[in-house]
Formats: sequence, structure tokens, C-alpha cells
Amino acid sequence: MSKKIGILTGGGDCPGLNGVIRGAVYRGTFKHGMEFVGIKFGWRGLLEKITMPLSTQDVRDILPIGGTILRTSRTNPTKTEGDAKLAIQNFHELGLDALIAIGGEDTLGAAYRLWKTDDSFAVVGVPKTIDNDLSGTDVTFGFDTAINIATEAIERLRTTARSHNRVLVVELMGRHAGWITLEAGIGGSADIILVPEKPFDIRKDVFEPLKKLRENGAEYAIVAVSEGAKLMVNNDVDGSLFLQEAERDEFGHIRLGGIAKALANEIENGIDWESRFVILGHLQRGGAPSAFDRFLSTRFGVSAVDAIAEGKSGVMVALRGTDIEAVPMTEEIKKIRTVPADLLELLDLFSK
Ligand code: F6P
Repeated sequence: MSKKIGILTGGGDCPGLNGVIRGAVYRGTFKHGMEFVGIKFGWRGLLEKITMPLSTQDVRDILPIGGTILRTSRTNPTKTEGDAKLAIQNFHELGLDALIAIGGEDTLGAAYRLWKTDDSFAVVGVPKTIDNDLSGTDVTFGFDTAINIATEAIERLRTTARSHNRVLVVELMGRHAGWITLEAGIGGSADIILVPEKPFDIRKDVFEPLKKLRENGAEYAIVAVSEGAKLMVNNDVDGSLFLQEAERDEFGHIRLGGIAKALANEIENGIDWESRFVILGHLQRGGAPSAFDRFLSTRFGVSAVDAIAEGKSGVMVALRGTDIEAVPMTEEIKKIRTVPADLLELLDLFSK
């Protein structure tokens, strides 16, 4: 009898999710004789048994489409013991032999906990996030698309900043890690780059370099800042530049956003240089995946069903060098892969 495989996408969406789904359905159908069902709205769909058909015809045209045809949510299926039990029970009631869970540290962490609770819940994880901060894999799909969008945006901001002799502060996604800000910041030739890994002193790391740039003849400047960048005050990390909303999601994350606005204000008042800000926000997550992300996401989908066909469970597929491997899902998944020290050295290379 053919194996029935469920696929769900959880957490924030990202370009390439549809590539994983398409890759998995094609490989699973034609190589392994599997049958697929889509679980809609992430873990919520498993808790509420909301499904959709997933044949090769259903997924034929979806590769260039951004977001996820399965929709998503930030529902946590392990929030209570009852939810975890229901998720496992529904997995069996839907007749699933295995589940492919595509998501970030929260979605994969939940998959791991459900599998640990009951190993009849066979699951293979696929790592995704535009933030590129998951440990276990060298790169996540979605990141390449995000940095291309962000790099182009910074270049566009440069021309208007120059026309008006302004400072433009651009805020990029990256809650715990500054990969997007570092790579798009360098790609877009930003003058100052601020990331969560290196808490900044506003005088030393922002005012002084900007003043020096101005003295050296710069008539405009670009500051790229991660949404999760941290301000230092008297050698202590101070959260006052974050305009955080109190609301938290089911995994306990505070909604970020607003550091660019606060920073532009500080710059204008601190060194009397007219400043504007832009929060790129979800523009970085929307739209068609880059060619790189289309191929990587397809390879992830293919490898996920191959792992299931080999009888693997409790693993996630990961890019290691140029190969894709199925590696054990452990609590390590929750570990954030931050920008290492040697790359942090590049942050102020162009701020002189
Ligand atoms: O998926 C990661 C991420 O894009 C973070 O960079 C950002 O903080 C968060 O998602 C935003 O989430 P939401 O779409 O729920 O506002």
C-alpha cells in the first residue's frame, strides 16, 4: 500500500515554501509511489483536521509563487499536553504514515517534541526562515530572496538620501541574528550596519562615524539596522530603542519593529543631520523566490521524502556544504546560528 504523507508549513512564511512542497510531491509520487495531503494553517490544521489535496497537478505551477499554498500560522501544538495528544491522535486519524513539517525553530521544535512524546508520530523537518539563523543547516531557503530584495531597497534609498543630503535608516528583519542586515547592508553599501550580535553604543557606533563621514565630505549616509539590534547604555543592554508591542505569539515572541524610527530621531537630535527611516518589514518575505531559493527548496523537498522512504523519522534535512543530509532533530534546533566574530569585523569596515 502506498504511504500517505502529510505536509504542513508553520511560522512566518518565506519564499521557497512552495518549492519544497512541489519537490516533495513530485519525488514522492513518481519515485516512491506516495500519496500526499496538505495540512492547512500549520499546526492549527493538524489540531483541527483542516486538509487539502496535494497531487502533482495541484502543485505543478506553484514553484514561482511566494508564500505557501498551505497557508501558515504560529499555533503551538505542544502548548498543552491535551493539544500534543490531539495532534498525535489526528495524525493517525488522518491515516498519515509520516509528516513533513516545514518551519523554523518553533515549528521544528514542536515536531521534535511530538516525535519524542510518541515515535509513531513519524516526522521529517525542513528548515526555513528568511533570517538564516537556524543551526544544523548551513543556509535556509528564503534568505537569498530576502537579501536580494533588501539590497535593492537600500540602493534605492541611497539615491533619494543623496538628493536630499539626508541620513536614511533602514530596518531589516532579523530577530536574533543579523544575517540579512549584514549581507544586504554590505550588498547595498550601507555606511553603518547594526546587528543583534553586537550591541551598539549610540555615540561611539552611530554618532561618531556619521560625524566623521560628514567631515570627510559625505553628504548623505545609510544606516542599516536589524529589528533585533540592541542598544548599550553604560555598558548595559538597554531596550529603550525598541518600540516593542506587548503582544506575544504562542511561542512567546514579542513583536519587533520600530528601532529605525527611534534611531532616525536620535540622529537628527544628536548630530543635527536630517534623517528619515524605512522599515522594510514583510516586503523581505513576500513575492517570488530567487533562482537559488527555487533550487534549494526543491532539493529540500526531494530529500525530505527520500528520508521518509528510507524509514527515517525525527530528522531534518539540512544543507551541509553542497550536500543535503538528514540530521537528527534535537533540542539543538532551538539554538540560533548567529553571525560569527570574523564576519562581525566587516560591520564597520565602510563606516570611515
Ligand atoms: O520569520 C522570521 C521573521 O521574519 C522575523 O525576522 C520577524 O521578527 C518575524 O518573522 C515577523 O513575524 P510576523 O510575520 O509574525 O510579524
